[in-house]
Amino acid sequence: MMRVFSGIQPTGALHLGNHLGAIVAWKELQAIAECTFCIVDWHAITVFQDPEALRQSVLMTAATYLACGLDPQRVTIYPQSAVPQHAELAWLLSCHTPMGWLNRMTQFKDKAGKHKDQAVLGLYAYPVLMAADIVLFGATHVPVGEDQKQHLELARDIAAAVNRAYGKDLLVIPEPMVSKVAPRIMSLRDGTKKMSKSDPSEASRIHLTDDDDTIAQKIRRAKTDSDALPSDIAGLDNRPEAKNLLTILSVLENRALPDTLQSYAGQTFSVLKDDLTQVLITHIAPIRQGIHERLSDPQALKSLLAQHASKCIEKAESTMGLMRESFGFLKLS
Ligand code: AMP
Ligand code: TRP
Repeated sequence: MMRVFSGIQPTGALHLGNHLGAIVAWKELQAIAECTFCIVDWHAITVFQDPEALRQSVLMTAATYLACGLDPQRVTIYPQSAVPQHAELAWLLSCHTPMGWLNRMTQFKDKAGKHKDQAVLGLYAYPVLMAADIVLFGATHVPVGEDQKQHLELARDIAAAVNRAYGKDLLVIPEPMVSKVAPRIMSLRDGTKKMSKSDPSEASRIHLTDDDDTIAQKIRRAKTDSDALPSDIAGLDNRPEAKNLLTILSVLENRALPDTLQSYAGQTFSVLKDDLTQVLITHIAPIRQGIHERLSDPQALKSLLAQHASKCIEKAESTMGLMRESFGFLKLS
C-alpha cells in the first residue's frame, strides 16, 4: 500500500500554483493511496506570523483542501500543531543530523539572506521538522514541487542515519515523488519567478478566493511582451510570460501545451487573455464558493480536524513508542 504524506504552510489564501502544482496531484492520489495532508503551521512560524491571522489561515487552508475535492472520508487532514509527536520526533532526528547537511540547504540560504547570524534556529532546523513529518507515519511517497526536492533527499538521509545508528529498520525511507507533469506556475508580474504567497504584489498571483472581477483584472494586467503568439514551442523561448499564460490555460483545459499553442498561433495576447479569464473564472468560482461555505461553519471544520488529529496521534504514538524504546528512554509505567 502506498502511504502518501504532504503539507502546505498556512500563510494566507492558497493560489493557483498550490492548486495546479500540488493539490490536483493529491486529489488523484486519494483514490489509490492512503493519504495524509497536513497543514504545517509549525513550519509557517519559522517566519513571524500574526497569531490571529495564523489561526484563520489554518481554517482557510483546511476549507481549501476540502473545496478542491479532497475527500475527508478518504484522506486525513489536520494541523501539525495538533499532533505534538511531530516536535518530539524532530528533536530525536536533529540528534542524527550533521550540521554540514543543513548547511547545504538552498532554501535556508535564500530565506536567511545575507544576515545568517540573525536567522532563527527554527528556520535552520526546518528540514529536520519536515523529515519528522514524513517518517512519523511511515510515508512511502511524498508528492511535492521541485523546490522541496532537496529537503526530501535530506529526509531520506536522516532516516537512513537513524536506522544505521540503531542497527534496524526503524524508519521507512520515503520515495520522492516530484511530478514531471505538475507545472510550475509563474508570477503574473514576472514570468521568471514562481507564483508565491510571499510575493509582496497581490497582482502576481491568483488566489483561490479571488472573485470574478479580481481574476479578470489580474489577467488583464498580467505582464506580456509585444509580439504575436508563436506557433511552436521553440517560439516560446525567452518569452516566459507567454509560456506561463499558455501553460495555465492548457492545464486547466486538460490539453497538451503544443495543442493549445496551435489554437493561438499568430494571435494577440488579448485574445488569449480573454479566453484564459473565462476558463479561470469557471474553474475557480466553485472552489471559492466551497471555501466560503466551509468557512461559514468554523465549528464543523474544527471538529473534522480534531477527529482527524486524534487518529494521527494514535498512529504517531505507535511510531514514537518504538522510537523511545530504541533510543533508550526509561519507561516509567
Ligand atoms: P508552499 O506554498 O510553499 O507551502 O507550497 C505548497 C505546495 O505547493 C508545495 O508542494 C509546492 O511545491 C507547491 N507550489 C507552491 N508554489 C507553486 C507554483 N508557483 N507552481 C507549482 N507548485 C507550487
Ligand atoms: N516544506 C514544504 C513546503 O514549503 C511543506 C512541508 C512541510 C512538507 N512538511 C512537509 C511537504 C512534509 C511534504 C512533506 O512546501
